[in-house]
Amino acid sequence: MTIWNLGSINADMVYAMPHLPEAGETLAASGLQRFLGGKGANMSVAAARAGSRVSHIGAVGSDGRWARDRLTEYGVDTRHIAEVDVPTGHAIIAVDAQGENLIVLFQGANHAISDDQLGQALSSAASGDLLVMQNETNAQLEAAKLGREMGLTVCYAAAPFQAEAVQAVLPYLDFLILNEIEAEQLQQATGLAPSDLPVEHVIVTFGSKGARYYHQGSEPQAFQAHKVDAVDTTGAGDTFTGYVLAGMDRGMPMAQAIAQANRAAALMVTRHGTADVIPDLKEVRDAQLN
Ligand code: RIB
Repeated sequence: MTIWNLGSINADMVYAMPHLPEAGETLAASGLQRFLGGKGANMSVAAARAGSRVSHIGAVGSDGRWARDRLTEYGVDTRHIAEVDVPTGHAIIAVDAQGENLIVLFQGANHAISDDQLGQALSSAASGDLLVMQNETNAQLEAAKLGREMGLTVCYAAAPFQAEAVQAVLPYLDFLILNEIEAEQLQQATGLAPSDLPVEHVIVTFGSKGARYYHQGSEPQAFQAHKVDAVDTTGAGDTFTGYVLAGMDRGMPMAQAIAQANRAAALMVTRHGTADVIPDLKEVRDAQLN
């Protein structure tokens, strides 16, 4: 089967900082590196590295051909990435000595995806394929509705979090992933705890404290995170999601998919960078983790 990912593509400009800058502060970085990023691109690469067939639906400007080429190189089908007359999205990412980050996003071409492009891409999807979205592109609602009509498994990673964006797609979802704070914010907005959401599969992540899986009608299941020395948490959540989706796509029981995703995310936080350094399945299986 195929994972269709309506997802962002960014140039990640990653600055190594002694601490995360505060309002009004001028602070020198000790290093700068450019990576392929965007929550969408990160998930596409993670799912492809986990062994799934992934087709990315997105947009870049003429300055972003390198990003499309790199996704192709990483095994992602890029035929549905349009080149538009808007600059490619980018992210300015400050990472401190403890591996925590602060991200400034420029959405650029990620919000220039046309309905025609989306329709054309999904016309090749087959019932049972997965469709995933995050909150860094336009056309999320159109995609969710179309995906549901076509019998796709509709998945949503609620990041960056906006309660209205999640609420708009909620009726069409089969799978929702969000972090602890986002789950609380969604509960405030809807009055619904994760276990009561009208979505068959819900995962709430707790960073270094693991994740909890809610399957409608069953008791929630907790998963511990592996203990590692984190140097950069950027993209670890996207890696986790990409691996979970790949597990679902390949018919794994959810507990097994989450356990594998946990290993991938643990490995990811030990590396500097985003899409370019997402571990592949062999690395994930072979890693010595506590
Ligand atoms: O989740 C990490 C990602 O958030 C980065 O790759 C950056 O581009 C932003 O989208």
